[in-house]
Amino acid sequence: MHHYDVIIVGGGLSGLMASVDLVGRHKAALFSKVHPLRSHSLAAQGGLNAALGNVPGSADDNWERHAFDTIKGSDYLADQDAVELMCRMGPEVVYELEHWGAPFSRTPEGKIAQRPFGGADYPRTCYAADRTGHVLLHTLYEQSVRRNVEVYEEWLVTSLVVKEDTVQGIVAMDYASGRMEVFSASAVIFATGGYGRVYQNSTNALINTGSGISVAYRAGIPIKDLEFVQFHPTTLYGTNILITEGARGEGGTLLNNKGARFMKNYAERLMELAPRDIVSRSMTTEILEGRGFENAYLHLDLRHLGRKKIDERLPGIRDIAIDFAGVDPARDPLPVQPGQHYSMGGIDTNERGQTRVRGFYAAGECACVSVHGANRLGGNSLLETVVFGKIVSDDLQNTMPSLKQEPDVSFLNRALAGEKERIDRLLRKDGTRNYADIRDELRQTMAKNVGVFRKEDELNEAVRAISRLKAMYKEIALRNKSRIFNFELINTLELEGMLDLAEIISIGALARKESRGSHFRTDFPKRDDANWLRHTLASFSGEGPRFDYKEVKITRYAPQERKY
Ligand code: FUM
Repeated sequence: MHHYDVIIVGGGLSGLMASVDLVGRHKAALFSKVHPLRSHSLAAQGGLNAALGNVPGSADDNWERHAFDTIKGSDYLADQDAVELMCRMGPEVVYELEHWGAPFSRTPEGKIAQRPFGGADYPRTCYAADRTGHVLLHTLYEQSVRRNVEVYEEWLVTSLVVKEDTVQGIVAMDYASGRMEVFSASAVIFATGGYGRVYQNSTNALINTGSGISVAYRAGIPIKDLEFVQFHPTTLYGTNILITEGARGEGGTLLNNKGARFMKNYAERLMELAPRDIVSRSMTTEILEGRGFENAYLHLDLRHLGRKKIDERLPGIRDIAIDFAGVDPARDPLPVQPGQHYSMGGIDTNERGQTRVRGFYAAGECACVSVHGANRLGGNSLLETVVFGKIVSDDLQNTMPSLKQEPDVSFLNRALAGEKERIDRLLRKDGTRNYADIRDELRQTMAKNVGVFRKEDELNEAVRAISRLKAMYKEIALRNKSRIFNFELINTLELEGMLDLAEIISIGALARKESRGSHFRTDFPKRDDANWLRHTLASFSGEGPRFDYKEVKITRYAPQERKY
Protein backbone atom coordinates (compact mmCIF):
# COMPACT_ATOMS: atom_id res chain seq x y z
CA MET A 1 0.00 0.00 0.00
CA HIS A 2 1.25 3.48 -0.91
CA HIS A 3 1.50 5.96 1.94
CA TYR A 4 1.63 9.74 1.56
CA ASP A 5 1.71 12.52 4.09
CA VAL A 6 -0.70 14.46 1.92
CA ILE A 7 -2.92 13.50 -0.98
CA ILE A 8 -4.35 16.32 -3.08
CA VAL A 9 -7.34 15.43 -5.22
CA GLY A 10 -7.90 17.75 -8.19
CA GLY A 11 -5.39 19.22 -10.65
CA GLY A 12 -6.97 22.65 -11.16
CA LEU A 13 -5.70 25.90 -9.68
CA SER A 14 -6.46 25.08 -6.04
CA GLY A 15 -4.98 21.61 -6.18
CA LEU A 16 -1.85 22.76 -8.02
CA MET A 17 -1.36 25.72 -5.69
CA ALA A 18 -1.56 23.43 -2.67
CA SER A 19 0.72 20.84 -4.20
CA VAL A 20 3.50 23.22 -5.27
CA ASP A 21 3.55 24.58 -1.74
CA LEU A 22 3.55 21.17 -0.06
CA VAL A 23 5.86 19.10 -2.19
CA GLY A 24 9.46 19.04 -0.98
CA ARG A 25 8.34 19.47 2.61
CA HIS A 26 6.02 16.47 2.69
CA LYS A 27 5.55 13.28 0.74
CA ALA A 28 2.68 14.40 -1.45
CA ALA A 29 0.79 13.14 -4.49
CA LEU A 30 -1.85 14.72 -6.68
CA PHE A 31 -4.76 12.73 -8.13
CA SER A 32 -6.83 14.00 -11.04
CA LYS A 33 -9.59 12.65 -13.26
CA VAL A 34 -7.82 14.29 -16.21
CA HIS A 35 -4.40 15.63 -17.09
CA PRO A 36 -4.08 18.75 -14.89
CA LEU A 37 -4.01 21.01 -17.95
CA ARG A 38 -7.48 19.76 -18.86
CA SER A 39 -8.91 20.91 -15.53
CA HIS A 40 -11.87 23.27 -15.68
CA SER A 41 -9.83 26.17 -14.24
CA LEU A 42 -8.51 26.42 -17.78
CA ALA A 43 -11.89 27.70 -18.97
CA ALA A 44 -11.90 30.74 -16.69
CA GLN A 45 -11.77 33.81 -18.86
CA GLY A 46 -12.19 37.25 -17.36
CA GLY A 47 -9.73 37.44 -14.47
CA LEU A 48 -9.08 37.47 -10.74
CA ASN A 49 -9.72 40.23 -8.25
CA ALA A 50 -7.10 41.93 -6.11
CA ALA A 51 -7.07 45.50 -4.85
CA LEU A 52 -3.85 46.60 -6.59
CA GLY A 53 -5.08 50.08 -7.51
CA ASN A 54 -3.20 49.97 -10.82
CA VAL A 55 -5.59 51.72 -13.20
CA PRO A 56 -7.28 55.13 -13.34
CA GLY A 57 -10.18 55.32 -10.90
CA SER A 58 -8.76 52.74 -8.50
CA ALA A 59 -6.00 54.63 -6.65
CA ASP A 60 -7.88 54.46 -3.34
CA ASP A 61 -9.00 50.85 -3.70
CA ASN A 62 -7.94 48.56 -0.88
CA TRP A 63 -8.64 45.05 0.45
CA GLU A 64 -11.36 46.39 2.77
CA ARG A 65 -13.34 47.86 -0.13
CA HIS A 66 -12.90 44.55 -1.92
CA ALA A 67 -14.19 42.73 1.17
CA PHE A 68 -17.20 45.02 1.42
CA ASP A 69 -18.12 44.55 -2.27
CA THR A 70 -17.77 40.77 -1.83
CA ILE A 71 -19.95 40.67 1.29
CA LYS A 72 -22.60 42.92 -0.22
CA GLY A 73 -22.48 40.82 -3.41
CA SER A 74 -22.97 37.69 -1.30
CA ASP A 75 -26.24 39.16 0.01
CA TYR A 76 -24.60 39.01 3.46
CA LEU A 77 -24.43 35.22 3.61
CA ALA A 78 -20.62 35.07 3.29
CA ASP A 79 -18.58 34.50 6.45
CA GLN A 80 -16.92 37.86 6.85
CA ASP A 81 -13.75 36.63 8.57
CA ALA A 82 -13.02 34.38 5.57
CA VAL A 83 -13.77 37.15 3.07
CA GLU A 84 -11.38 39.50 4.87
CA LEU A 85 -8.66 36.86 4.78
CA MET A 86 -9.15 36.26 1.05
CA CYS A 87 -9.23 39.93 0.08
CA ARG A 88 -6.20 40.76 2.24
CA MET A 89 -4.20 38.02 0.48
CA GLY A 90 -5.31 39.06 -3.03
CA PRO A 91 -2.35 41.29 -3.95
CA GLU A 92 0.21 38.84 -2.48
CA VAL A 93 -1.02 35.87 -4.55
CA VAL A 94 -1.29 37.92 -7.74
CA TYR A 95 2.32 39.07 -7.39
CA GLU A 96 3.42 35.51 -6.60
CA LEU A 97 1.75 34.29 -9.80
CA GLU A 98 3.37 37.16 -11.70
CA HIS A 99 6.80 36.21 -10.34
CA TRP A 100 6.20 32.64 -11.47
CA GLY A 101 5.70 34.01 -14.96
CA ALA A 102 1.96 34.48 -15.40
CA PRO A 103 1.67 36.75 -18.46
CA PHE A 104 -0.93 39.25 -17.21
CA SER A 105 -2.14 41.97 -19.58
CA ARG A 106 -0.42 45.27 -18.86
CA THR A 107 -1.20 48.98 -18.52
CA PRO A 108 0.75 51.37 -20.79
CA GLU A 109 3.20 51.88 -17.86
CA GLY A 110 3.76 48.14 -17.57
CA LYS A 111 1.71 47.44 -14.44
CA ILE A 112 -0.73 44.52 -14.22
CA ALA A 113 -3.87 45.74 -16.01
CA GLN A 114 -7.24 45.66 -14.24
CA ARG A 115 -10.76 45.83 -15.66
CA PRO A 116 -14.16 46.52 -14.10
CA PHE A 117 -16.25 43.48 -13.13
CA GLY A 118 -19.74 43.06 -11.74
CA GLY A 119 -20.68 44.31 -8.29
CA ALA A 120 -17.30 45.97 -7.72
CA ASP A 121 -16.95 49.68 -7.04
CA TYR A 122 -13.43 49.74 -8.51
CA PRO A 123 -11.76 48.17 -11.55
CA ARG A 124 -9.84 45.43 -9.73
CA THR A 125 -9.96 42.36 -11.95
CA CYS A 126 -6.45 41.39 -13.11
CA TYR A 127 -6.55 39.57 -16.42
CA ALA A 128 -4.68 38.02 -19.31
CA ALA A 129 -6.90 39.07 -22.24
CA ASP A 130 -9.85 36.64 -21.93
CA ARG A 131 -7.70 33.59 -21.15
CA THR A 132 -6.83 34.19 -17.52
CA GLY A 133 -7.59 30.67 -16.27
CA HIS A 134 -5.59 29.24 -19.15
CA VAL A 135 -2.43 31.21 -18.36
CA LEU A 136 -2.69 30.70 -14.59
CA LEU A 137 -3.18 26.96 -14.94
CA HIS A 138 -0.14 26.73 -17.22
CA THR A 139 1.89 28.86 -14.79
CA LEU A 140 1.05 26.65 -11.82
CA TYR A 141 1.44 23.46 -13.81
CA GLU A 142 4.97 24.56 -14.79
CA GLN A 143 5.74 25.09 -11.11
CA SER A 144 4.41 21.61 -10.30
CA VAL A 145 6.64 20.08 -12.99
CA ARG A 146 9.62 22.08 -11.73
CA ARG A 147 9.05 20.72 -8.23
CA ASN A 148 8.41 17.14 -9.40
CA VAL A 149 4.91 16.84 -8.00
CA GLU A 150 3.88 13.19 -8.30
CA VAL A 151 0.68 13.03 -10.35
CA TYR A 152 -1.79 10.16 -10.70
CA GLU A 153 -3.70 11.35 -13.74
CA GLU A 154 -6.93 9.78 -15.01
CA TRP A 155 -7.73 8.31 -11.60
CA LEU A 156 -11.19 8.64 -10.09
CA VAL A 157 -11.39 8.85 -6.30
CA THR A 158 -14.39 6.71 -5.39
CA SER A 159 -14.26 7.08 -1.63
CA LEU A 160 -12.67 8.93 1.24
CA VAL A 161 -11.58 6.64 4.05
CA VAL A 162 -12.49 8.06 7.46
CA LYS A 163 -12.12 6.32 10.82
CA GLU A 164 -13.45 7.88 14.00
CA ASP A 165 -13.56 11.37 12.47
CA THR A 166 -9.94 11.13 11.25
CA VAL A 167 -9.00 10.80 7.60
CA GLN A 168 -7.11 7.62 6.69
CA GLY A 169 -6.77 7.92 2.90
CA ILE A 170 -8.63 7.38 -0.34
CA VAL A 171 -9.75 4.57 -2.61
CA ALA A 172 -9.26 5.35 -6.30
CA MET A 173 -9.68 3.71 -9.69
CA ASP A 174 -7.20 3.97 -12.55
CA TYR A 175 -9.10 4.68 -15.79
CA ALA A 176 -6.53 2.94 -17.99
CA SER A 177 -6.63 -0.44 -16.27
CA GLY A 178 -9.73 -0.25 -14.07
CA ARG A 179 -7.50 -1.23 -11.15
CA MET A 180 -8.70 -0.14 -7.71
CA GLU A 181 -6.18 0.83 -5.05
CA VAL A 182 -6.20 2.23 -1.56
CA PHE A 183 -3.74 5.00 -0.61
CA SER A 184 -3.14 5.91 2.98
CA ALA A 185 -2.50 9.54 3.95
CA SER A 186 -2.23 11.65 7.07
CA ALA A 187 -4.03 14.47 5.29
CA VAL A 188 -6.26 14.66 2.22
CA ILE A 189 -7.16 17.87 0.38
CA PHE A 190 -10.12 17.88 -2.01
CA ALA A 191 -9.85 20.53 -4.74
CA THR A 192 -12.23 18.77 -7.07
CA GLY A 193 -14.29 21.65 -8.52
CA GLY A 194 -18.00 22.16 -8.96
CA TYR A 195 -21.06 20.20 -10.04
CA GLY A 196 -22.25 22.35 -12.99
CA ARG A 197 -23.06 19.33 -15.12
CA VAL A 198 -25.96 18.46 -12.84
CA TYR A 199 -27.64 21.13 -15.02
CA GLN A 200 -28.41 20.92 -18.73
CA ASN A 201 -27.57 24.57 -19.45
CA SER A 202 -24.08 24.89 -17.96
CA THR A 203 -20.84 26.64 -18.90
CA ASN A 204 -18.95 23.85 -17.15
CA ALA A 205 -16.70 21.15 -18.56
CA LEU A 206 -18.13 17.63 -18.77
CA ILE A 207 -15.87 16.58 -15.88
CA ASN A 208 -17.69 18.97 -13.49
CA THR A 209 -19.95 16.39 -11.92
CA GLY A 210 -19.30 17.37 -8.31
CA SER A 211 -17.68 13.99 -7.72
CA GLY A 212 -15.50 15.21 -4.84
CA ILE A 213 -18.41 16.90 -3.08
CA SER A 214 -20.53 13.78 -3.27
CA VAL A 215 -17.68 11.51 -2.12
CA ALA A 216 -17.19 13.79 0.92
CA TYR A 217 -20.96 13.77 1.57
CA ARG A 218 -21.06 9.97 1.52
CA ALA A 219 -18.09 9.96 3.95
CA GLY A 220 -20.16 11.93 6.47
CA ILE A 221 -18.93 15.48 5.90
CA PRO A 222 -21.72 18.10 5.84
CA ILE A 223 -22.35 19.97 2.59
CA LYS A 224 -23.09 23.67 3.00
CA ASP A 225 -25.41 26.09 1.11
CA LEU A 226 -25.83 23.93 -1.98
CA GLU A 227 -29.10 25.66 -2.94
CA PHE A 228 -27.08 28.71 -4.05
CA VAL A 229 -26.34 28.08 -7.72
CA GLN A 230 -24.84 30.81 -9.87
CA PHE A 231 -26.26 31.53 -13.31
CA HIS A 232 -23.83 33.54 -15.42
CA PRO A 233 -25.69 36.21 -17.38
CA THR A 234 -23.89 35.81 -20.67
CA THR A 235 -23.54 32.34 -22.08
CA LEU A 236 -23.73 31.78 -25.82
CA TYR A 237 -27.29 30.99 -26.88
CA GLY A 238 -27.66 27.31 -27.74
CA THR A 239 -24.37 25.97 -26.42
CA ASN A 240 -24.04 27.88 -23.11
CA ILE A 241 -20.34 28.47 -23.71
CA LEU A 242 -19.10 31.20 -21.37
CA ILE A 243 -18.94 34.74 -22.77
CA THR A 244 -16.85 36.48 -20.15
CA GLU A 245 -18.14 39.23 -17.90
CA GLY A 246 -14.97 40.95 -19.11
CA ALA A 247 -16.92 41.67 -22.31
CA ARG A 248 -19.26 43.90 -20.27
CA GLY A 249 -16.28 45.12 -18.23
CA GLU A 250 -14.76 46.39 -21.48
CA GLY A 251 -17.99 48.25 -22.29
CA GLY A 252 -20.30 45.63 -23.85
CA THR A 253 -24.02 46.39 -23.47
CA LEU A 254 -27.09 44.17 -23.15
CA LEU A 255 -30.00 44.91 -25.47
CA ASN A 256 -33.54 43.56 -25.68
CA ASN A 257 -35.62 43.07 -28.83
CA LYS A 258 -36.58 46.78 -28.76
CA GLY A 259 -32.87 47.68 -28.92
CA ALA A 260 -33.06 49.05 -25.35
CA ARG A 261 -30.37 48.83 -22.65
CA PHE A 262 -32.87 47.29 -20.26
CA MET A 263 -30.43 47.00 -17.31
CA LYS A 264 -31.08 50.68 -16.52
CA ASN A 265 -34.50 49.55 -15.26
CA TYR A 266 -33.02 47.02 -12.82
CA ALA A 267 -29.69 48.44 -11.63
CA GLU A 268 -29.59 52.11 -12.49
CA ARG A 269 -26.01 52.76 -11.36
CA LEU A 270 -24.04 49.67 -12.35
CA MET A 271 -26.32 48.49 -15.17
CA GLU A 272 -24.60 45.58 -17.03
CA LEU A 273 -22.01 45.43 -14.25
CA ALA A 274 -24.45 44.72 -11.44
CA PRO A 275 -23.74 41.39 -9.70
CA ARG A 276 -24.55 38.24 -11.64
CA ASP A 277 -27.66 37.26 -9.70
CA ILE A 278 -29.27 40.60 -10.55
CA VAL A 279 -28.24 40.65 -14.21
CA SER A 280 -29.37 37.04 -14.76
CA ARG A 281 -32.75 37.72 -13.13
CA SER A 282 -33.18 40.89 -15.18
CA MET A 283 -32.38 39.06 -18.41
CA THR A 284 -34.74 36.21 -17.53
CA THR A 285 -37.49 38.74 -16.76
CA GLU A 286 -36.96 40.44 -20.13
CA ILE A 287 -37.23 37.09 -21.89
CA LEU A 288 -40.29 35.95 -19.88
CA GLU A 289 -42.05 39.26 -20.57
CA GLY A 290 -41.57 38.93 -24.32
CA ARG A 291 -38.66 41.31 -24.87
CA GLY A 292 -36.16 38.61 -25.80
CA PHE A 293 -35.38 37.15 -29.20
CA GLU A 294 -37.17 33.89 -30.05
CA ASN A 295 -38.32 33.89 -26.37
CA ALA A 296 -34.86 32.63 -25.48
CA TYR A 297 -32.00 35.12 -25.69
CA LEU A 298 -30.88 38.75 -25.64
CA HIS A 299 -28.12 40.63 -27.39
CA LEU A 300 -24.66 41.42 -26.06
CA ASP A 301 -23.41 44.27 -28.19
CA LEU A 302 -19.64 44.71 -28.52
CA ARG A 303 -19.62 46.45 -31.89
CA HIS A 304 -18.82 49.89 -30.49
CA LEU A 305 -15.61 48.54 -28.91
CA GLY A 306 -14.13 48.17 -32.38
CA ARG A 307 -12.17 45.30 -33.88
CA LYS A 308 -8.81 46.44 -32.44
CA LYS A 309 -9.98 46.42 -28.82
CA ILE A 310 -11.88 43.16 -29.29
CA ASP A 311 -8.76 41.53 -30.74
CA GLU A 312 -6.60 42.81 -27.92
CA ARG A 313 -8.87 42.22 -24.89
CA LEU A 314 -11.40 39.61 -26.02
CA PRO A 315 -9.77 37.51 -28.75
CA GLY A 316 -11.07 34.20 -27.39
CA ILE A 317 -14.64 35.51 -27.26
CA ARG A 318 -14.43 36.56 -30.90
CA ASP A 319 -13.16 33.09 -31.85
CA ILE A 320 -15.89 31.35 -29.82
CA ALA A 321 -18.61 33.55 -31.30
CA ILE A 322 -17.45 32.95 -34.87
CA ASP A 323 -16.88 29.21 -34.41
CA PHE A 324 -19.97 28.33 -32.39
CA ALA A 325 -22.58 30.93 -33.37
CA GLY A 326 -21.32 32.12 -36.75
CA VAL A 327 -21.37 35.70 -35.44
CA ASP A 328 -18.46 38.16 -35.54
CA PRO A 329 -18.94 40.41 -32.48
CA ALA A 330 -17.07 43.20 -34.25
CA ARG A 331 -19.93 43.30 -36.76
CA ASP A 332 -23.04 41.84 -35.08
CA PRO A 333 -24.44 41.51 -31.55
CA LEU A 334 -24.00 38.16 -29.81
CA PRO A 335 -27.01 36.04 -28.79
CA VAL A 336 -26.67 35.36 -25.05
CA GLN A 337 -28.73 33.83 -22.25
CA PRO A 338 -28.09 33.05 -18.55
CA GLY A 339 -26.63 29.60 -17.86
CA GLN A 340 -25.49 27.63 -14.81
CA HIS A 341 -21.91 28.59 -14.07
CA TYR A 342 -20.80 28.12 -10.48
CA SER A 343 -21.61 26.56 -7.16
CA MET A 344 -21.44 28.84 -4.14
CA GLY A 345 -22.06 25.84 -1.87
CA GLY A 346 -19.86 22.84 -1.25
CA ILE A 347 -17.99 20.91 1.41
CA ASP A 348 -18.37 22.71 4.73
CA THR A 349 -15.00 24.12 5.84
CA ASN A 350 -13.76 26.82 8.20
CA GLU A 351 -11.57 29.71 7.04
CA ARG A 352 -8.49 27.44 7.08
CA GLY A 353 -10.11 24.91 4.74
CA GLN A 354 -10.50 22.39 7.57
CA THR A 355 -13.57 20.15 7.68
CA ARG A 356 -15.05 18.39 10.66
CA VAL A 357 -12.90 15.33 9.82
CA ARG A 358 -9.37 15.64 11.20
CA GLY A 359 -6.83 15.86 8.36
CA PHE A 360 -9.47 16.35 5.64
CA TYR A 361 -9.43 19.72 3.86
CA ALA A 362 -11.28 21.23 0.92
CA ALA A 363 -10.38 24.23 -1.25
CA GLY A 364 -11.70 25.96 -4.36
CA GLU A 365 -15.14 25.48 -5.87
CA CYS A 366 -15.79 22.14 -4.17
CA ALA A 367 -15.47 23.89 -0.80
CA CYS A 368 -17.84 26.27 0.92
CA VAL A 369 -15.66 28.37 3.19
CA SER A 370 -17.92 30.57 2.71
CA VAL A 371 -16.47 33.55 0.83
CA HIS A 372 -19.27 33.86 -1.73
CA GLY A 373 -22.36 33.44 0.40
CA ALA A 374 -25.50 33.55 -1.72
CA ASN A 375 -23.86 35.07 -4.81
CA ARG A 376 -20.26 35.17 -5.97
CA LEU A 377 -18.74 38.22 -7.63
CA GLY A 378 -17.01 37.58 -10.94
CA GLY A 379 -13.23 37.34 -10.51
CA ASN A 380 -13.47 36.07 -6.93
CA SER A 381 -13.45 32.43 -7.94
CA LEU A 382 -9.93 32.35 -9.38
CA LEU A 383 -8.84 34.37 -6.37
CA GLU A 384 -10.43 31.85 -4.01
CA THR A 385 -8.72 28.92 -5.73
CA VAL A 386 -5.20 30.26 -5.30
CA VAL A 387 -5.71 31.86 -1.89
CA PHE A 388 -7.28 28.81 -0.29
CA GLY A 389 -4.95 26.39 -2.08
CA LYS A 390 -2.23 28.30 -0.28
CA ILE A 391 -4.06 28.56 3.04
CA VAL A 392 -4.67 24.82 3.32
CA SER A 393 -1.06 24.06 2.52
CA ASP A 394 0.10 26.65 5.09
CA ASP A 395 -2.24 25.15 7.65
CA LEU A 396 -0.78 21.72 6.98
CA GLN A 397 2.72 23.00 7.68
CA ASN A 398 1.57 23.57 11.24
CA THR A 399 -0.76 20.65 11.74
CA MET A 400 1.18 17.89 9.98
CA PRO A 401 3.24 16.85 13.01
CA SER A 402 0.06 16.20 14.97
CA LEU A 403 -1.68 14.53 12.02
CA LYS A 404 1.09 12.02 11.25
CA GLN A 405 -0.15 8.56 11.97
CA GLU A 406 0.66 4.93 11.37
CA PRO A 407 -1.71 3.75 8.64
CA ASP A 408 -4.42 1.41 9.91
CA VAL A 409 -3.71 -1.13 7.20
CA SER A 410 -6.54 -3.52 7.94
CA PHE A 411 -9.11 -0.70 8.09
CA LEU A 412 -7.85 0.68 4.78
CA ASN A 413 -7.89 -2.76 3.17
CA ARG A 414 -11.46 -3.31 4.31
CA ALA A 415 -12.40 0.04 2.71
CA LEU A 416 -10.75 -1.11 -0.54
CA ALA A 417 -12.55 -4.46 -0.45
CA GLY A 418 -15.88 -2.66 0.09
CA GLU A 419 -15.32 -0.41 -2.91
CA LYS A 420 -14.20 -3.33 -5.11
CA GLU A 421 -17.32 -5.25 -4.16
CA ARG A 422 -19.55 -2.20 -4.91
CA ILE A 423 -18.05 -1.82 -8.37
CA ASP A 424 -18.07 -5.54 -9.12
CA ARG A 425 -21.77 -5.61 -8.23
CA LEU A 426 -22.44 -2.72 -10.59
CA LEU A 427 -20.60 -4.46 -13.43
CA ARG A 428 -22.40 -7.77 -12.82
CA LYS A 429 -25.95 -6.66 -12.19
CA ASP A 430 -28.91 -6.99 -14.53
CA GLY A 431 -31.37 -4.20 -15.22
CA THR A 432 -33.27 -2.27 -17.84
CA ARG A 433 -31.90 1.26 -17.48
CA ASN A 434 -28.83 3.07 -18.74
CA TYR A 435 -27.07 5.96 -17.05
CA ALA A 436 -27.36 8.42 -19.94
CA ASP A 437 -31.19 8.57 -19.93
CA ILE A 438 -31.27 9.16 -16.17
CA ARG A 439 -28.52 11.76 -16.31
CA ASP A 440 -30.18 13.65 -19.18
CA GLU A 441 -33.53 13.74 -17.39
CA LEU A 442 -31.82 14.91 -14.22
CA ARG A 443 -30.15 17.78 -16.08
CA GLN A 444 -33.39 18.84 -17.76
CA THR A 445 -35.27 18.66 -14.46
CA MET A 446 -32.74 20.90 -12.72
CA ALA A 447 -32.65 23.44 -15.57
CA LYS A 448 -36.46 23.61 -15.69
CA ASN A 449 -37.33 23.61 -11.99
CA VAL A 450 -34.33 24.82 -9.99
CA GLY A 451 -33.13 27.75 -12.07
CA VAL A 452 -32.91 31.54 -11.80
CA PHE A 453 -36.49 31.84 -10.48
CA ARG A 454 -37.84 29.16 -8.13
CA LYS A 455 -41.20 28.39 -6.58
CA GLU A 456 -42.70 25.71 -4.40
CA ASP A 457 -44.57 23.61 -6.97
CA GLU A 458 -41.58 23.48 -9.34
CA LEU A 459 -39.17 22.63 -6.54
CA ASN A 460 -41.51 19.88 -5.38
CA GLU A 461 -41.61 18.60 -8.94
CA ALA A 462 -37.79 18.47 -8.94
CA VAL A 463 -37.68 16.62 -5.62
CA ARG A 464 -40.21 14.04 -6.87
CA ALA A 465 -38.36 13.60 -10.17
CA ILE A 466 -35.02 13.09 -8.40
CA SER A 467 -36.53 10.48 -6.11
CA ARG A 468 -37.93 8.66 -9.17
CA LEU A 469 -34.54 8.91 -10.92
CA LYS A 470 -32.83 7.51 -7.82
CA ALA A 471 -35.15 4.50 -7.99
CA MET A 472 -34.37 4.11 -11.71
CA TYR A 473 -30.64 4.28 -10.91
CA LYS A 474 -30.99 1.00 -9.00
CA GLU A 475 -32.16 -0.65 -12.24
CA ILE A 476 -29.12 0.32 -14.31
CA ALA A 477 -27.26 -2.44 -16.13
CA LEU A 478 -23.95 -1.74 -17.82
CA ARG A 479 -23.42 -2.93 -21.37
CA ASN A 480 -19.67 -2.50 -21.21
CA LYS A 481 -18.25 -5.00 -18.71
CA SER A 482 -14.62 -4.19 -19.40
CA ARG A 483 -12.39 -2.52 -16.82
CA ILE A 484 -10.29 -0.62 -19.34
CA PHE A 485 -11.27 3.01 -19.90
CA ASN A 486 -14.85 2.06 -19.13
CA PHE A 487 -16.58 5.44 -19.26
CA GLU A 488 -19.98 3.81 -18.94
CA LEU A 489 -18.83 2.58 -15.51
CA ILE A 490 -17.23 5.92 -14.57
CA ASN A 491 -20.29 7.94 -15.65
CA THR A 492 -22.60 5.58 -13.78
CA LEU A 493 -20.54 5.90 -10.61
CA GLU A 494 -20.55 9.69 -10.92
CA LEU A 495 -24.27 9.81 -11.64
CA GLU A 496 -25.06 8.42 -8.18
CA GLY A 497 -23.28 11.43 -6.66
CA MET A 498 -24.98 13.86 -9.07
CA LEU A 499 -28.38 12.58 -7.93
CA ASP A 500 -27.35 13.15 -4.30
CA LEU A 501 -26.24 16.71 -5.04
CA ALA A 502 -29.37 17.54 -7.05
CA GLU A 503 -31.45 16.27 -4.15
CA ILE A 504 -29.59 18.48 -1.66
CA ILE A 505 -29.91 21.55 -3.94
CA SER A 506 -33.64 21.06 -4.49
CA ILE A 507 -34.67 20.20 -0.93
CA GLY A 508 -32.45 22.99 0.43
CA ALA A 509 -34.07 25.46 -2.02
CA LEU A 510 -37.54 24.26 -1.07
CA ALA A 511 -36.79 24.70 2.62
CA ARG A 512 -35.32 28.20 2.28
CA LYS A 513 -38.44 30.35 2.25
CA GLU A 514 -36.83 33.66 1.31
CA SER A 515 -34.94 35.21 -1.60
CA ARG A 516 -31.24 35.85 -1.16
CA GLY A 517 -28.59 36.28 -3.86
CA SER A 518 -28.86 33.59 -6.48
CA HIS A 519 -31.76 31.86 -4.68
CA PHE A 520 -34.88 33.73 -5.76
CA ARG A 521 -38.27 32.38 -4.68
CA THR A 522 -41.11 34.07 -6.55
CA ASP A 523 -43.38 32.94 -3.69
CA PHE A 524 -41.03 34.50 -1.06
CA PRO A 525 -39.49 37.42 -2.94
CA LYS A 526 -37.88 39.19 0.05
CA ARG A 527 -34.71 38.47 2.00
CA ASP A 528 -35.60 37.37 5.53
CA ASP A 529 -32.65 37.95 7.86
CA ALA A 530 -34.69 37.19 10.96
CA ASN A 531 -35.19 33.58 9.92
CA TRP A 532 -32.71 32.85 7.16
CA LEU A 533 -29.44 34.65 7.80
CA ARG A 534 -27.88 31.23 8.30
CA HIS A 535 -26.03 28.56 6.39
CA THR A 536 -27.71 25.33 5.31
CA LEU A 537 -25.92 22.08 6.18
CA ALA A 538 -26.90 18.76 4.57
CA SER A 539 -25.59 15.47 5.94
CA PHE A 540 -25.88 12.02 4.41
CA SER A 541 -28.28 9.47 5.80
CA GLY A 542 -29.73 6.30 4.33
CA GLU A 543 -33.12 8.06 4.07
CA GLY A 544 -31.79 11.11 2.21
CA PRO A 545 -30.16 14.35 3.35
CA ARG A 546 -30.61 15.56 6.93
CA PHE A 547 -30.73 19.36 7.16
CA ASP A 548 -29.35 21.58 9.82
CA TYR A 549 -28.36 25.27 9.95
CA LYS A 550 -25.47 27.25 11.30
CA GLU A 551 -24.79 30.90 11.92
CA VAL A 552 -23.10 33.32 9.53
CA LYS A 553 -19.97 35.04 10.82
CA ILE A 554 -20.44 38.81 10.81
CA THR A 555 -17.38 40.90 11.65
CA ARG A 556 -17.98 44.54 10.76
CA TYR A 557 -20.43 44.74 7.88
CA ALA A 558 -24.03 44.76 9.13
CA PRO A 559 -26.52 43.36 6.60
CA GLN A 560 -28.28 46.07 4.62
CA GLU A 561 -30.39 46.28 1.50
CA ARG A 562 -28.37 45.78 -1.66
CA LYS A 563 -28.67 48.66 -4.12
CA TYR A 564 -26.69 48.98 -7.33
O1 FUM B 1 -17.08 35.94 -16.84
C1 FUM B 1 -16.04 35.39 -16.54
O2 FUM B 1 -14.99 35.62 -17.11
C2 FUM B 1 -16.05 34.46 -15.42
C3 FUM B 1 -15.37 34.79 -14.37
C4 FUM B 1 -15.71 34.16 -13.08
O3 FUM B 1 -16.58 33.28 -13.05
O4 FUM B 1 -15.13 34.57 -12.06
